[in-house]
Amino acid sequence: MNRFEGKTVIVTGASSGIGEGIARRFADEGANVVLNSVDEDKLEEVAAKLPSERTFICAGDVSDPGTAQHIVDRTVEKFGALDVLCNNAGIAVMAQLQDTDQDDIDRVLDVNVKGVINMSKAAYEPLKASGGSIVNTSSVSGIGGDWGLAIYNTSKGAVTNLTRALALDWGRDGVRVNAVNPSLIRTELSEDMFDNDKLISAFETRIPLQRTGCPDDVAGPVLFLASEDAKFVSGVQLPVDGGLSASNGQPPIGEYQIG
Ligand SMILES: NC(=O)c1ccc[n+]([C@@H]2O[C@H](COP(=O)([O-])OP(=O)(O)OC[C@H]3O[C@@H](n4cnc5c(N)ncnc54)[C@H](O)[C@@H]3O)[C@@H](O)[C@H]2O)c1
Repeated sequence: MNRFEGKTVIVTGASSGIGEGIARRFADEGANVVLNSVDEDKLEEVAAKLPSERTFICAGDVSDPGTAQHIVDRTVEKFGALDVLCNNAGIAVMAQLQDTDQDDIDRVLDVNVKGVINMSKAAYEPLKASGGSIVNTSSVSGIGGDWGLAIYNTSKGAVTNLTRALALDWGRDGVRVNAVNPSLIRTELSEDMFDNDKLISAFETRIPLQRTGCPDDVAGPVLFLASEDAKFVSGVQLPVDGGLSASNGQPPIGEYQIG
């Protein structure tokens, strides 16, 4: 398919993991792709695998409003428009609130919440001009709570409601705003968890499809939400979680002897 030929897409956090997977899929489907992250060297490595005439690197920290504006301005200068913004850059801190450093609290909220706010605000005018859309990489952690992830939950919960609020405000401008909500995906961010076989096996038991995800599992749903096929879809949180969030949390009753 070539659903994005002639379209221009910004992917934040594109130097690894889910963002790299999203960028590659957009490039495969004909888009001009602007790659952003804080790691310029890794962006060069990702860009080297994509069509050079349709790929542009714009490194920088999305938590800074001026940098966010610069990324959007450079994109429009380079490709003439902006059609899709994928707010994917994110970081995590795993700890209960009482054990979380103030610096970590500030950094997670700055990147995961203000980064999405800054990029969305900067992109509003060009997206309005193109009738474009935003796809945020939220998380199942933005739908419900996790044990030991309070600040990450706070940040992704904010992305969930920002997605809804912008879908309301910007719908009349023809701008759609959606989110994907992955469960555990194997990337640099989650790599430490994959060192623990018992933990991964617990995930595989809880996830109805019996496996954790890979970046390409997320990229497909992101491209769907950004595509014309989703032209009447806005404000949704699309779980990309192997069925995990279909559960209300009760244990599998049928696996226990009753009566
Ligand atoms: N891996 C998972 O299990 C999982 C599950 C659900 C949601 N997510 C979300 O997916 C997104 C991508 O994470 P990932 O798992 O691919 O991790 P990753 O660590 O591989 O990628 C994160 C990317 O964000 C970039 N980044 C970090 N801070 C930035 C900043 N201030 N400005 C610009 N770029 C910045 C990094 O350079 C990197 O490219 C994140 O928002 C994360 O919260 C991940």
